[in-house]
Amino acid sequence: MPTTADSLDAVLRDYRDRVNARLAEYMQPADDCPPRLREAMAYSLLAGGKRLRPMLTLLACEACGGDISAALPAACALEMIHTYSLIHDDLPAMDDDDFRRGRPTNHKVFGEALAILAGDALLTLAFEVVARDITPPAIAAACCADLASAAGDCGMVAGQVVDMLAEEQGLSTVAELEAIHRRKTGRLFTCALTLGGRVASATPDQLTTLKKFGERVGLAFQITDDLLDVSGDPEKMGKGVQKDAQAGKLTYPGLLGIAESRRRADLLIDEATELARSLGSQSQHLVSLARFVGQRDH
Ligand code: IPE
Ligand code: IPE
Ligand code: MG
Ligand code: MG
Ligand code: MG
Repeated sequence: MPTTADSLDAVLRDYRDRVNARLAEYMQPADDCPPRLREAMAYSLLAGGKRLRPMLTLLACEACGGDISAALPAACALEMIHTYSLIHDDLPAMDDDDFRRGRPTNHKVFGEALAILAGDALLTLAFEVVARDITPPAIAAACCADLASAAGDCGMVAGQVVDMLAEEQGLSTVAELEAIHRRKTGRLFTCALTLGGRVASATPDQLTTLKKFGERVGLAFQITDDLLDVSGDPEKMGKGVQKDAQAGKLTYPGLLGIAESRRRADLLIDEATELARSLGSQSQHLVSLARFVGQRDH
């Protein structure tokens, strides 16, 4: 039976609800965790957000014939790392932003010191969750390695550093910009995909396809983020806009203009959907999420 757009939406909503429910479980009070720290962690983690990365983990697992429940801990771990990166990205020493996920940023509510520590704690908890809740242990270890390499000094943190240096040095080529986006945003996206593939015991070929899909969707996602900074609605997005140009950030629309940036994002999403389709009939939800990334307005 053909799947309608409505039933696809319902499936994606259901998966998102499952991610949100598991994240809330991970934020239950713990004996030795100071309540104020837990509050600061939950404040940002449970504040909504599109949950794109954890959804990609579940959908990659599904596309490779795996059981999505088994991938939930990995999906949640990635969302913890993403949320930590947002808390730190918003700090006065970095982008100095006041709004995130429709509410005041973490440091505005809890102060800079606790915001830094809440980020640290989310990052650390992510590894505890994967090491403890993903089975068998060999898959858990592979997932931990993927997460560490995507988030660390050659991944997301590297991208944040180069993004910061580019502001000072005034870099100006598309190649330089792509190298920033690939690490700052792309690596967590490709990791989302490979985590799902690993839990589903994907073949090396399937993992390669997932990685290529993640690279395209990740880059398209950050191009769209840059475009939305120029023309997005702050209410819908739940964060401030028109900050990149003021801060002297190197962005796609800044470098190539709006129309060419849009064209590149569309092309990347087309390539990604073809790759997802090549994974077979269980990849229809993955295809539909890629389309959402291309068309998103928040
Ligand atoms: C924002 O990511 C940060 C970037 C990498 C551009 P999202 O737009 O996925 O933020 P949430 O998770 O929905 O809040
Ligand atoms: C943030 O990129 C990337 C990470 C948090 C790793 P941006 O600085 O463009 O994200 P927004 O626009 O603040 O969400
Ligand atoms: Mg930033
Ligand atoms: Mg920012
Ligand atoms: Mg941005």
